[in-house]
Amino acid sequence: MASEAARTSLWDGPEPSPHTTLARAADLVVVAPATARLLAAYATGLADDLLVATLLATRAPVVLCPAMHSEMWDHPAVQANVATLGERGAHLVGPDEGTLAGGDVGRGRLAEPAAIVAACAGVLDGAEAGGHVDRAPVRDLDGLAVLITAGGTREPLDPVRFLGNRSSGKQGHALAAEAAFRGARVTLVTASAAAAPPGVEVQRVDTAAEMESAVLSHSDRADVVVMAAAVADFRPVQVATTKLHRREGLPEVVLEPTPDILAGLVTRRRPGQIVVGFAAEWGDPRPGARAKLATTGADVVVANDVSAPETGFDADTNAVVIVSASGMELNVGPSTKRDVARAVLDAVVAHRSVP
Ligand code: CTP
Repeated sequence: MASEAARTSLWDGPEPSPHTTLARAADLVVVAPATARLLAAYATGLADDLLVATLLATRAPVVLCPAMHSEMWDHPAVQANVATLGERGAHLVGPDEGTLAGGDVGRGRLAEPAAIVAACAGVLDGAEAGGHVDRAPVRDLDGLAVLITAGGTREPLDPVRFLGNRSSGKQGHALAAEAAFRGARVTLVTASAAAAPPGVEVQRVDTAAEMESAVLSHSDRADVVVMAAAVADFRPVQVATTKLHRREGLPEVVLEPTPDILAGLVTRRRPGQIVVGFAAEWGDPRPGARAKLATTGADVVVANDVSAPETGFDADTNAVVIVSASGMELNVGPSTKRDVARAVLDAVVAHRSVP
C-alpha cells in the first residue's frame, strides 16, 4: 500500500492548492476526532486551515466522529453545529459514553475504531456489505451484542464431497454490516466465503454441528441472535474417511437430522434476549412465516420465497415478510439485501420496545 505524507498546512506543500487536490482524490473523508472547534468551523464555512478547506472543497461523503468533554458536547452551540452538518449530509459516529480525558466519565468519548470503520464501510459502496448506504448511522443498537449466522452449511459425505444448499450468505453478511453500522458489537458465525464486513468479529464454520457449537458459545452474551443461516436439516450418518471411488459402486447414503440450532436457542433464551428466525418458503411466504413463529417460539421470523429469482438463494435482492410475536406483519422489498437487513433490525428494535 502506498504511504502518504501527513499534510498539515495549506501553504507549505509543493502544489498551490492542496485542499482541492486532496478533496478531489478522496472517496470518503473521515474526521476522527472531530473537536468542537472543527465542527463550528465546518458548519460556518470558516476555511482557515487545510482540514476545513478540504472539507468544504470535497464532494465525497464526510464522516465526523466528535470527541470532547460532556459539557461541551451538550452545549447548544455544538448541538446546533452538529444538527446543521447532519442536515447537510455529514455522517456522524458517536460520541460514546465512557472515560474522557483527565479521568472524567460521560458522553463525549471518541467512538470505537471498529464502529468508525463499520460506519465508513456502510457509507462507501460496499457490495460485500450489502449495498450502498447513503444515510447517517442511527446508533439505536449502541452497546448491544448481536450474534448473526449466515451462509449454507455443508455436511460431508466423504473428505471431498458434501450435501449443501445454494445460500450465498449475502443476507446474513448484510445484517452483520447493518448491525455494526448501527453501533452493535457483532459476532458473525458464517458458513459463507463472502468477505467479512468491517468491524465485525467473524467465526467461519462448515457444518451444522460446528455452527451449533459456535452459536451456543456466543449466545449467552448476546442481546439479539439472528439465525439467517440456511442450516442443513439432514446430514449423512456415515462420513467416509477416504474419498469414495466410482469403482466401489453406488454408496448407500443414510441421513440423520442435524441439531436444530434455533430450537436450542429458544429453549435457552434469557429474559430480554431476542431470537430471530428465518424461513425459506416455496411460494407465498406469509403463511409459513406465521406458522414458523408459532412452531419455533422465535420473537421475530423473516420469511422469503426461495422459488422466485429475485428473492431466492444467491440473489442480490430480497423480498421478505417480517412477523413478530408482538403482532407485527411487514412486507419489505424487493430491494437490496442491505435494505432488508435494515428493516429486520428495525423490527428487532420495535419488538424490544414492546413492554
Ligand atoms: N435452522 C436451525 N437449525 C437447523 C435448521 C434450521 O437453526 N438445523 C434455522 C434456520 O437458521 C432458520 C430457521 O431454522 O432461522 C428455519 O429454517 P428453514 O430451513 O427455513 O426451515 P426448516 O426448519 O428447514 O423447515 P422446513 O424445511 O420445513 O421449511
